[in-house]
Amino acid sequence: MTDASNEVSLAGKAALITGSARGLGAEIAAILARAGAAVMIADILEDQGRQTAEAIRAAGGKAAFVRQDVTNETDWEATVAATIRELGGFDILVNNAGIEVCALLENTTLKDFQRILDINVTGVFLGLRAAAKAMKPGGAAGGGGSVINLSSVAGLRGYSGLSAYCGSKGAVKLLTKAAAVEFGQLGYGIRVNSIHPGLIPTDMGSAVLKGFVAAGLGKDEASVQQAFERGTPLGMKGTPADIAKAALFLASDQSPWVTGAELVVDGGSTAS
Ligand SMILES: NC(=O)c1ccc[n+]([C@@H]2O[C@H](COP(=O)([O-])OP(=O)(O)OC[C@H]3O[C@@H](n4cnc5c(N)ncnc54)[C@H](O)[C@@H]3O)[C@@H](O)[C@H]2O)c1
Repeated sequence: MTDASNEVSLAGKAALITGSARGLGAEIAAILARAGAAVMIADILEDQGRQTAEAIRAAGGKAAFVRQDVTNETDWEATVAATIRELGGFDILVNNAGIEVCALLENTTLKDFQRILDINVTGVFLGLRAAAKAMKPGGAAGGGGSVINLSSVAGLRGYSGLSAYCGSKGAVKLLTKAAAVEFGQLGYGIRVNSIHPGLIPTDMGSAVLKGFVAAGLGKDEASVQQAFERGTPLGMKGTPADIAKAALFLASDQSPWVTGAELVVDGGSTAS
Protein backbone atom coordinates (compact mmCIF):
# COMPACT_ATOMS: atom_id res chain seq x y z
CA MET A 1 0.00 0.00 0.00
CA THR A 2 1.31 3.47 -0.80
CA ASP A 3 1.48 6.11 1.90
CA ALA A 4 -0.38 9.24 0.77
CA SER A 5 0.46 11.07 3.97
CA ASN A 6 4.05 11.80 2.91
CA GLU A 7 4.85 15.49 3.02
CA VAL A 8 4.30 17.10 -0.39
CA SER A 9 7.67 17.82 -1.97
CA LEU A 10 8.42 19.81 -5.10
CA ALA A 11 12.19 19.53 -4.68
CA GLY A 12 13.94 19.79 -8.04
CA LYS A 13 10.87 21.28 -9.80
CA ALA A 14 10.68 24.69 -11.48
CA ALA A 15 7.41 26.63 -11.47
CA LEU A 16 6.26 29.70 -13.40
CA ILE A 17 3.36 31.60 -11.83
CA THR A 18 1.79 34.40 -13.88
CA GLY A 19 0.43 37.52 -12.18
CA SER A 20 2.28 36.57 -9.01
CA ALA A 21 3.53 39.95 -7.81
CA ARG A 22 0.62 40.04 -5.33
CA GLY A 23 -2.60 38.33 -4.27
CA LEU A 24 -3.30 34.67 -4.92
CA GLY A 25 -0.34 34.33 -7.31
CA ALA A 26 2.13 35.53 -4.65
CA GLU A 27 0.61 33.14 -2.08
CA ILE A 28 0.78 30.23 -4.54
CA ALA A 29 4.41 31.06 -5.38
CA ALA A 30 5.29 31.15 -1.66
CA ILE A 31 3.74 27.74 -0.88
CA LEU A 32 5.32 26.09 -3.95
CA ALA A 33 8.69 27.54 -2.89
CA ARG A 34 8.22 26.26 0.69
CA ALA A 35 7.62 22.80 -0.80
CA GLY A 36 11.00 23.06 -2.52
CA ALA A 37 10.21 24.35 -6.03
CA ALA A 38 12.24 27.11 -7.63
CA VAL A 39 9.68 29.75 -8.62
CA MET A 40 9.54 32.39 -11.35
CA ILE A 41 7.44 35.40 -10.34
CA ALA A 42 6.00 36.89 -13.54
CA ASP A 43 3.89 40.06 -13.68
CA ILE A 44 3.47 43.47 -15.28
CA LEU A 45 4.02 45.00 -11.80
CA GLU A 46 7.83 45.15 -11.74
CA ASP A 47 8.61 46.65 -8.31
CA GLN A 48 6.07 44.51 -6.49
CA GLY A 49 7.15 41.41 -8.42
CA ARG A 50 10.81 41.93 -7.47
CA GLN A 51 9.79 42.43 -3.83
CA THR A 52 7.75 39.22 -3.84
CA ALA A 53 10.70 37.25 -5.25
CA GLU A 54 13.00 38.86 -2.68
CA ALA A 55 10.64 37.91 0.19
CA ILE A 56 10.64 34.27 -0.96
CA ARG A 57 14.46 34.28 -1.13
CA ALA A 58 14.64 35.89 2.34
CA ALA A 59 12.52 33.00 3.65
CA GLY A 60 15.04 30.52 2.22
CA GLY A 61 13.30 29.75 -1.09
CA LYS A 62 14.54 29.96 -4.68
CA ALA A 63 12.85 32.72 -6.69
CA ALA A 64 13.45 35.06 -9.61
CA PHE A 65 11.34 37.76 -11.30
CA VAL A 66 10.58 38.42 -14.94
CA ARG A 67 8.34 41.14 -16.40
CA GLN A 68 5.63 39.47 -18.45
CA ASP A 69 2.37 40.61 -19.99
CA VAL A 70 0.38 37.38 -20.48
CA THR A 71 -1.33 38.75 -23.60
CA ASN A 72 1.99 39.12 -25.42
CA GLU A 73 3.38 36.16 -27.43
CA THR A 74 6.95 37.46 -27.37
CA ASP A 75 6.80 37.87 -23.59
CA TRP A 76 5.72 34.22 -23.27
CA GLU A 77 8.72 33.01 -25.28
CA ALA A 78 11.10 35.13 -23.21
CA THR A 79 9.47 34.12 -19.89
CA VAL A 80 9.63 30.39 -20.57
CA ALA A 81 13.24 30.73 -21.79
CA ALA A 82 14.16 32.69 -18.62
CA THR A 83 12.46 30.07 -16.42
CA ILE A 84 14.42 27.21 -18.00
CA ARG A 85 17.70 29.18 -18.02
CA GLU A 86 17.47 30.64 -14.48
CA LEU A 87 15.60 27.87 -12.65
CA GLY A 88 16.93 24.86 -14.55
CA GLY A 89 13.60 23.56 -15.89
CA PHE A 90 9.88 24.15 -16.42
CA ASP A 91 7.65 21.61 -14.67
CA ILE A 92 4.74 23.65 -13.29
CA LEU A 93 2.77 26.51 -14.83
CA VAL A 94 0.13 28.40 -12.87
CA ASN A 95 -1.96 30.58 -15.21
CA ASN A 96 -3.07 32.95 -12.46
CA ALA A 97 -2.94 36.47 -13.99
CA GLY A 98 -6.42 37.89 -14.36
CA ILE A 99 -8.63 40.95 -14.09
CA GLU A 100 -12.28 41.58 -13.29
CA VAL A 101 -14.76 44.08 -14.66
CA CYS A 102 -17.88 44.69 -12.61
CA ALA A 103 -20.78 46.28 -14.52
CA LEU A 104 -24.27 45.42 -15.67
CA LEU A 105 -24.07 43.72 -19.08
CA GLU A 106 -25.84 46.61 -20.81
CA ASN A 107 -23.23 49.03 -19.39
CA THR A 108 -20.17 46.89 -20.22
CA THR A 109 -18.09 48.52 -22.96
CA LEU A 110 -16.78 46.48 -25.89
CA LYS A 111 -13.29 47.64 -24.90
CA ASP A 112 -13.66 46.22 -21.37
CA PHE A 113 -15.19 42.98 -22.68
CA GLN A 114 -12.33 42.46 -25.12
CA ARG A 115 -9.71 43.37 -22.50
CA ILE A 116 -11.01 40.83 -20.02
CA LEU A 117 -11.06 38.09 -22.69
CA ASP A 118 -7.57 39.08 -23.78
CA ILE A 119 -6.02 38.77 -20.31
CA ASN A 120 -8.18 36.02 -18.77
CA VAL A 121 -8.60 33.75 -21.82
CA THR A 122 -5.94 34.58 -24.43
CA GLY A 123 -3.38 34.73 -21.62
CA VAL A 124 -4.31 31.19 -20.53
CA PHE A 125 -4.32 29.93 -24.14
CA LEU A 126 -0.81 31.31 -24.73
CA GLY A 127 0.33 29.74 -21.46
CA LEU A 128 -1.07 26.32 -22.39
CA ARG A 129 0.57 26.52 -25.80
CA ALA A 130 3.91 27.52 -24.33
CA ALA A 131 3.68 24.70 -21.76
CA ALA A 132 2.82 22.09 -24.39
CA LYS A 133 5.79 23.07 -26.56
CA ALA A 134 8.31 23.23 -23.72
CA MET A 135 7.17 20.39 -21.43
CA LYS A 136 6.33 17.68 -23.98
CA PRO A 137 8.89 14.95 -24.72
CA GLY A 138 11.63 16.54 -26.83
CA GLY A 139 10.62 20.09 -25.74
CA ALA A 140 13.08 22.58 -24.25
CA ALA A 141 12.28 21.31 -20.74
CA GLY A 142 10.91 17.95 -21.85
CA GLY A 143 9.84 16.33 -18.58
CA GLY A 144 6.06 16.73 -18.72
CA GLY A 145 4.39 18.72 -15.98
CA SER A 146 1.33 20.22 -14.34
CA VAL A 147 -0.60 23.26 -15.56
CA ILE A 148 -3.06 24.93 -13.19
CA ASN A 149 -5.50 27.51 -14.52
CA LEU A 150 -7.25 29.96 -12.18
CA SER A 151 -10.90 30.03 -13.13
CA SER A 152 -13.50 31.05 -10.51
CA VAL A 153 -16.89 30.20 -9.06
CA ALA A 154 -17.88 32.71 -11.75
CA GLY A 155 -16.77 30.10 -14.30
CA LEU A 156 -19.38 27.69 -12.89
CA ARG A 157 -22.49 29.84 -12.44
CA GLY A 158 -23.77 33.29 -13.36
CA TYR A 159 -23.49 36.43 -11.21
CA SER A 160 -25.24 39.74 -11.90
CA GLY A 161 -22.68 42.43 -12.68
CA LEU A 162 -19.98 39.95 -13.73
CA SER A 163 -21.10 38.80 -17.19
CA ALA A 164 -17.79 39.57 -18.93
CA TYR A 165 -15.83 37.97 -16.08
CA CYS A 166 -18.15 34.91 -16.00
CA GLY A 167 -17.77 34.50 -19.78
CA SER A 168 -13.98 34.60 -19.48
CA LYS A 169 -13.79 32.18 -16.54
CA GLY A 170 -16.23 29.74 -18.18
CA ALA A 171 -13.92 29.72 -21.18
CA VAL A 172 -10.95 28.93 -18.90
CA LYS A 173 -12.86 25.95 -17.49
CA LEU A 174 -13.35 24.30 -20.90
CA LEU A 175 -10.00 25.35 -22.33
CA THR A 176 -8.58 23.44 -19.37
CA LYS A 177 -10.55 20.28 -20.13
CA ALA A 178 -9.77 20.32 -23.88
CA ALA A 179 -6.05 20.75 -23.21
CA ALA A 180 -6.14 18.00 -20.56
CA VAL A 181 -7.71 15.53 -22.99
CA GLU A 182 -5.41 16.46 -25.88
CA PHE A 183 -2.15 16.47 -23.91
CA GLY A 184 -3.15 13.18 -22.27
CA GLN A 185 -4.00 11.48 -25.57
CA LEU A 186 -0.77 12.74 -27.16
CA GLY A 187 1.25 11.21 -24.31
CA TYR A 188 2.80 14.55 -23.32
CA GLY A 189 2.84 13.76 -19.58
CA ILE A 190 1.23 17.13 -18.90
CA ARG A 191 -1.79 17.33 -16.56
CA VAL A 192 -4.09 20.37 -16.77
CA ASN A 193 -6.61 21.35 -14.10
CA SER A 194 -8.60 24.41 -13.05
CA ILE A 195 -9.15 25.92 -9.61
CA HIS A 196 -12.42 27.74 -8.90
CA PRO A 197 -12.03 30.05 -5.89
CA GLY A 198 -14.91 31.77 -4.15
CA LEU A 199 -14.49 35.37 -2.99
CA ILE A 200 -11.03 35.82 -1.44
CA PRO A 201 -9.73 39.04 0.16
CA THR A 202 -7.11 40.33 -2.29
CA ASP A 203 -6.95 43.55 -4.34
CA MET A 204 -9.35 41.88 -6.78
CA GLY A 205 -11.61 40.59 -4.01
CA SER A 206 -12.08 44.10 -2.59
CA ALA A 207 -12.50 45.57 -6.10
CA VAL A 208 -15.40 43.13 -6.64
CA LEU A 209 -17.11 44.34 -3.44
CA LYS A 210 -16.66 48.00 -4.51
CA GLY A 211 -17.79 47.18 -8.06
CA PHE A 212 -21.02 45.56 -6.88
CA VAL A 213 -21.88 48.70 -4.91
CA ALA A 214 -20.97 51.00 -7.84
CA ALA A 215 -23.12 48.90 -10.21
CA GLY A 216 -26.08 49.31 -7.84
CA LEU A 217 -26.05 45.62 -6.85
CA GLY A 218 -25.54 46.18 -3.11
CA LYS A 219 -26.10 48.90 -0.49
CA ASP A 220 -22.50 48.90 0.74
CA GLU A 221 -19.42 46.66 0.75
CA ALA A 222 -20.32 45.03 4.08
CA SER A 223 -23.74 43.95 2.81
CA VAL A 224 -22.26 42.57 -0.43
CA GLN A 225 -19.70 40.62 1.64
CA GLN A 226 -22.50 39.29 3.85
CA ALA A 227 -24.47 38.21 0.78
CA PHE A 228 -21.45 36.17 -0.41
CA GLU A 229 -20.96 34.64 3.06
CA ARG A 230 -24.61 33.69 3.49
CA GLY A 231 -24.21 31.52 0.39
CA THR A 232 -21.27 29.70 1.98
CA PRO A 233 -22.37 26.60 3.94
CA LEU A 234 -19.11 26.47 5.89
CA GLY A 235 -19.91 29.96 7.14
CA MET A 236 -16.38 31.30 6.96
CA LYS A 237 -14.29 33.48 4.71
CA GLY A 238 -11.77 31.93 2.34
CA THR A 239 -8.13 32.97 2.49
CA PRO A 240 -5.37 33.06 -0.15
CA ALA A 241 -3.80 30.09 1.69
CA ASP A 242 -6.89 27.96 0.94
CA ILE A 243 -6.31 28.50 -2.78
CA ALA A 244 -2.54 28.02 -2.53
CA LYS A 245 -2.96 24.62 -0.84
CA ALA A 246 -5.22 23.48 -3.69
CA ALA A 247 -2.57 24.59 -6.19
CA LEU A 248 0.12 22.72 -4.25
CA PHE A 249 -1.90 19.50 -4.48
CA LEU A 250 -2.43 19.86 -8.24
CA ALA A 251 1.21 20.84 -8.82
CA SER A 252 2.58 17.87 -6.93
CA ASP A 253 2.96 14.16 -7.49
CA GLN A 254 0.07 13.68 -5.00
CA SER A 255 -2.35 14.15 -7.94
CA PRO A 256 -0.91 11.91 -10.71
CA TRP A 257 -4.35 10.73 -11.92
CA VAL A 258 -6.04 14.14 -11.77
CA THR A 259 -6.41 15.96 -15.07
CA GLY A 260 -9.22 18.00 -16.61
CA ALA A 261 -10.69 18.47 -13.13
CA GLU A 262 -12.42 21.50 -11.62
CA LEU A 263 -11.20 21.94 -8.05
CA VAL A 264 -13.79 24.18 -6.38
CA VAL A 265 -12.51 26.00 -3.27
CA ASP A 266 -15.42 28.14 -2.15
CA GLY A 267 -16.65 26.98 1.27
CA GLY A 268 -19.46 25.21 -0.55
CA SER A 269 -21.08 28.35 -2.03
CA THR A 270 -21.69 26.79 -5.47
CA ALA A 271 -22.94 23.56 -3.88
CA SER A 272 -25.98 25.25 -2.36
N1 LIG B 1 -9.75 37.14 -5.30
C1 LIG B 1 -10.83 36.47 -5.64
O1 LIG B 1 -11.88 36.60 -4.98
C2 LIG B 1 -10.82 35.52 -6.81
C3 LIG B 1 -11.89 34.63 -6.92
C4 LIG B 1 -11.92 33.74 -8.00
C5 LIG B 1 -10.90 33.74 -8.92
N2 LIG B 1 -9.86 34.62 -8.79
C6 LIG B 1 -8.82 34.57 -9.83
O2 LIG B 1 -7.56 34.36 -9.24
C7 LIG B 1 -6.53 35.02 -9.99
C8 LIG B 1 -5.73 35.93 -9.07
O3 LIG B 1 -6.61 36.89 -8.52
P1 LIG B 1 -6.20 37.88 -7.32
O4 LIG B 1 -7.38 37.98 -6.43
O5 LIG B 1 -4.88 37.53 -6.77
O6 LIG B 1 -6.12 39.26 -8.15
P2 LIG B 1 -5.11 40.51 -8.00
O7 LIG B 1 -5.73 41.61 -8.77
O8 LIG B 1 -4.81 40.73 -6.57
O9 LIG B 1 -3.80 39.97 -8.73
C9 LIG B 1 -3.80 39.72 -10.11
C10 LIG B 1 -2.38 39.85 -10.63
O10 LIG B 1 -2.43 39.66 -12.06
C11 LIG B 1 -1.58 40.64 -12.64
N3 LIG B 1 -1.95 40.92 -14.04
C12 LIG B 1 -3.04 41.58 -14.49
N4 LIG B 1 -2.99 41.69 -15.84
C13 LIG B 1 -1.84 41.08 -16.23
C14 LIG B 1 -1.22 40.86 -17.49
N5 LIG B 1 -1.77 41.31 -18.64
N6 LIG B 1 -0.05 40.17 -17.53
C15 LIG B 1 0.52 39.72 -16.37
N7 LIG B 1 0.00 39.92 -15.15
C16 LIG B 1 -1.18 40.60 -15.09
C17 LIG B 1 -1.75 41.87 -11.75
O11 LIG B 1 -0.69 42.80 -11.94
C18 LIG B 1 -1.78 41.24 -10.37
O12 LIG B 1 -0.50 41.11 -9.81
C19 LIG B 1 -7.25 35.76 -11.12
O13 LIG B 1 -7.22 34.98 -12.30
C20 LIG B 1 -8.67 35.87 -10.59
O14 LIG B 1 -9.62 36.01 -11.63
C21 LIG B 1 -9.80 35.50 -7.75
